[in-house]
Amino acid sequence: MLDIKITKAAALKQKPDESNLGFGKIFSDHMFVMDYTPAQGWHDAQIVPYAPFALDPACVVFHYAQELFEGLKAYRTADNTIQLFRPDCNGQRMMDSAVRMCMPEIPVEDFVQAVKALVEVEKDWVPHSDGASLYIRPFIIATDVGMGVHASHNYRFCIICSPSGAYYAEGIDPVRIYVEDEYIRAAPGLTGFAKCGGNYAASIKAGAEAEKLGFAQVLWLDGVEKKYVEEVGSMNIMFKIDGKIYTAACTGTVLPGVTRRSCIELLKDWGYEVIEGKLAIADVMKAGHEGKLEEVFGTGTAAVVSPVKELDWKGDKVFINDSKIGPVTQKLYDTMTGMQWGKLPDTKGWIVPVCKG
Ligand code: COI
Repeated sequence: MLDIKITKAAALKQKPDESNLGFGKIFSDHMFVMDYTPAQGWHDAQIVPYAPFALDPACVVFHYAQELFEGLKAYRTADNTIQLFRPDCNGQRMMDSAVRMCMPEIPVEDFVQAVKALVEVEKDWVPHSDGASLYIRPFIIATDVGMGVHASHNYRFCIICSPSGAYYAEGIDPVRIYVEDEYIRAAPGLTGFAKCGGNYAASIKAGAEAEKLGFAQVLWLDGVEKKYVEEVGSMNIMFKIDGKIYTAACTGTVLPGVTRRSCIELLKDWGYEVIEGKLAIADVMKAGHEGKLEEVFGTGTAAVVSPVKELDWKGDKVFINDSKIGPVTQKLYDTMTGMQWGKLPDTKGWIVPVCKG
């Protein structure tokens, strides 16, 4: 249990126009910070006014990217309850990532306590408008000063909050995805399953090239044979082929998404066969040409459940469900967002109320 000291900002910022939030552009009044030293462990848990850090330019994080982050959201219900969705899953994933990145773990209960404490202080920042939420970004950075390539001894854990709307400019409208055939995101033994900034840094060039061609994001293939589908830039991806749902297994190269596992649980509850395993891109395209690729959708905290209307692989194109959102994608979107915003009962025990807003 953390002992969190709270220092409130002397002046509060003006709240944004909720009709034009975008994603991750505006930041709230306060942040959570906690430092780690080998002698004291994690200590000095505080909520303080949102402000820049002063860090030595030789800090390990700036040179060798020893860093981790998470993403979750706080939602406002019709009766003004502020609530979270499975924050313990984010805490656990951050700890799994920490082991891979040689960073100190934070007990999951402390992670959840820190998130809840900050959200309670920032409750007025949780948007009221439909589809908008308070995006919460916990992260850990290595703060040792020095250029040797080895694990830092000192770290900072911080949580910031950003009132946000849809991740994609398209909103819930289906997006075009470019199947990446040159660059790779992950390979066995690397950090694909960890939510570390380096994975995203390595993905930026492919994303930028795809965006120039009018695609929302790239679909990554496995890093060894470039044959099997893995995930999309900011979300996991699922394919409905001939009535069955396929998605890559979490065997080390794919991010174990909280939305991914929640959708899989829902799909199984609804009687769908969900196959977590290797799915060749050639088979996806073939299914598309034979009219058997019924739906494709991404799942992610930021992206929620996001329909895909087109896949382009080496010049071959398939169009999915007449460029419309499919019934399973729509049902998942409605169920997930229904539970998150408190419009549907939480039949799975996934909702964690924080406070009244
Ligand atoms: C999220 O969905 O929360 C993510 O972290 C994806 C992101 C890089 C925007």
